[in-house]
Formats: sequence, C-alpha cells, structure tokens
Amino acid sequence: MKLSVILAHPNKQSFNHAIAETAVDSLKQNGHDVVFHDLYDEGFNPVLPWDEIPERAALSPELEAYCGEIAAADGIIIVHPNWWGQPPAILKGWVDRVFRPGVAYQFLEGDKGEGVPIGLLKARAAIVFNTSNTDREREVKAFGDPLETLWKNCIFDLCGVKTFYRRMFSVVVTSSAKQRSKWLEEVQGAVSRYFPANAAKSDVPH
Ligand SMILES: Cc1cc2nc3c(=O)[nH]c(=O)nc-3n(C[C@H](O)[C@H](O)[C@H](O)COP(=O)(O)O)c2cc1C
Repeated sequence: MKLSVILAHPNKQSFNHAIAETAVDSLKQNGHDVVFHDLYDEGFNPVLPWDEIPERAALSPELEAYCGEIAAADGIIIVHPNWWGQPPAILKGWVDRVFRPGVAYQFLEGDKGEGVPIGLLKARAAIVFNTSNTDREREVKAFGDPLETLWKNCIFDLCGVKTFYRRMFSVVVTSSAKQRSKWLEEVQGAVSRYFPANAAKSDVPH
C-alpha cells in the first residue's frame, strides 16, 4: 500500500519526530511504500493565495506533487503537537492548499458550495498522532478536545476517509524516557493494526 506520512514540528529532537520516525519505520517493515514529508524541513509555504482557490487553478509543480500524492495514498498518517488546540500553522496551511476541491472533495453538479460535498480521497484509513502537555481529562472537560473534531469530522470524514484513529500522547513535558518508549511501542502497534504487513487495501480495519 502507498502511505503518506506528514510531520509538522520544528525541532528534529522532538518527541513528534520520534513518533514520525517510528511510524515510517513500521510501515516500511510492513512492506509499504512510504512518502514522508517533514513540512518544516521542506520549507512548505502554508499561505493559500487567492488565485489558487478555484478548482481549476494552475498549480505549481510542487503543489501538484503534494496533491497527487495525497490523492493516490491508500493511507495517511499525520503527526503534530497540540498548539492552542490546533495544528501548527504550517500544517493548517498544508491542509488549506493540498486538500483542495477536485483532489480531496467535490461539490455535486449544480451545487455552488452551499451543500454537503462528496469526499474524493481514496485512503482506506487515516491516523493522527498528537502530543500535548494537558492531561486527557482536562483536555476533554475544559477544551472539548478540538483536534478530535477537526481531524475526524471536519477533515477526514468530509474528504471520504471514514476509518480514523487518533492518539494524543500527554503529558509530554514531564514524561520519562521509559514512558516515551512505551508510547513509541503504541505508535508501532497502531500503525501495524491499520496497515499490517503485506496488507491489501481490503485488510484495513473499519
Ligand atoms: C505555540 C504553542 C502552543 C501550545 N499550545 C498548547 C495547548 O494548547 N495545549 C497543550 O497541552 N500544549 C500546548 N503546547 C505544548 C505542546 O503541545 C508540547 O510542547 C508538545 O506537544 C510536546 O511535544 P514535543 O516534545 O514533541 O515538542 C503548546 C506549545 C507551543 C509552542
């Protein structure tokens, strides 16, 4: 299977990088084709310009490549820290520019954009790994865990990816090395559960 792994974290020594590396290694060990994007390393420009918004807009070759990859992916894994209940701006902009009409979703004939679009992504499953410094109970009670709604409903469900798994690791700042290595084992386990060795697309759990 073809897997896209997208990482948004500015520090190569971060736990987020360790998560992404573990996910990529697990996928490769399971025999999948992996395309990995470290958005900071690539200097991704997250600003969506006005002339790029129309469905038939001319795109730069770089953006065409990002869009082509996500359209062709059998599975998508996103890794990022919780920043104000949101993804880092670089990743928000990646969604703005890459999950575009005609690539990730489409309005039906005659719909000017007011209706419910149909999802176009063919990925069988999406996984989101997050980190934060807020314990789970407070995240849910005080903030409503906005990243769950954002990724599960607003983005992946809308774009046609119905099988979704998300795990937020917290509290990172006070975590021990032992805890972090257990979390990385969890990453490996989740990746292999959704994208097992030698899996056909039909093997992905629903
Ligand atoms: C700009 C910014 C905003 C942040 N906002 C939150 C937040 O809303 N909730 C939270 O629990 N942690 C927040 N944090 C802490 C990060 O989530 C935390 O540093 C990160 O998940 C730790 O993972 P790392 O070691 O890979 O950086 C924020 C950090 C930064 C830099």
